[in-house]
Amino acid sequence: MQQEYKNKNVVVTGGFSGIGKAVATAYAQEGANVFLIDANPAVAETANAIAAQTQAKVIALHCDISVESCVNEAFSTIDAIDIFIANAGIEAATPIDEPMAAGLANFRKIMDVNITGTFLTLASARKKMSAGASIVITSSIWGKTAVPDFSAYNASKHANLGLMRTLAKELGPQGIRVNAICPGWVKTGPAMESLKIMAGEKGCSEESLLKRLSEEQCFGDVQSPEDVALSYLMLTSRYAINVTGQAINADRGALLV
Ligand SMILES: NC(=O)c1ccc[n+]([C@@H]2O[C@H](COP(=O)([O-])OP(=O)(O)OC[C@H]3O[C@@H](n4cnc5c(N)ncnc54)[C@H](O)[C@@H]3O)[C@@H](O)[C@H]2O)c1
Repeated sequence: MQQEYKNKNVVVTGGFSGIGKAVATAYAQEGANVFLIDANPAVAETANAIAAQTQAKVIALHCDISVESCVNEAFSTIDAIDIFIANAGIEAATPIDEPMAAGLANFRKIMDVNITGTFLTLASARKKMSAGASIVITSSIWGKTAVPDFSAYNASKHANLGLMRTLAKELGPQGIRVNAICPGWVKTGPAMESLKIMAGEKGCSEESLLKRLSEEQCFGDVQSPEDVALSYLMLTSRYAINVTGQAINADRGALLV
């Protein structure tokens, strides 16, 4: 993959932390110019840290992807995009039996960020992309299956795959590929928070649940963000030029579909 990403413009939403930060770092290590879009006001600190680590050009754009004006403003500062990683997302439990007012507010918030926000950024990014460009949306293996108590999150990740497949059809004739990565469990803040909730429901410790989840994979422990980041590079590389409209599991074989 030598020189594959040298001087390419790569935009990553949710680049402040977790998977997004690791993906941004991986492209920066390959010589890309990276733009981090994130609602966390400290996103500039992540950008500076990645720039110091990789010597790449890394620009932070503070933006809530669910707010149209904010998204328009952020993308207006970017000239051209070679690779767009629609990764920002939130995760929380929304049990069906939660009192409706709080439950509905959580449900709407997750839909707002994970679906509407993703759509808004795709619409803006797409205007800066031309033939040969590539989009990857971060869905989840929960976008292909389901776990109890996470109805909004599961539904939003299924919707991400619907968006991906639709845009693959819409943008394919213009030479733009659109795919999704479906990570399995990745050690990040929100994932470990969900693990805690699930362990509580099952009446077991977080450690024992983590061990069980690792054993359900074909190999290894639960992945790090740096592990999963490599799958994004694979999917946007020239080795995948005929791959579009696909939802690729990066889950160490946890879900064999
Ligand atoms: N960690 C996992 O196990 C796992 C598994 C499957 C899918 N995912 C998906 O991976 C993506 C990244 O999650 P993560 O686990 O790295 O969590 P994370 O919280 O570390 O990363 C999410 C990032 O998105 C940002 N963000 C949240 N709301 C935003 C908004 N409205 N506008 C802009 N930025 C916003 C956050 O500030 C954060 O930097 C999410 O889409 C998540 O659903 C994670």
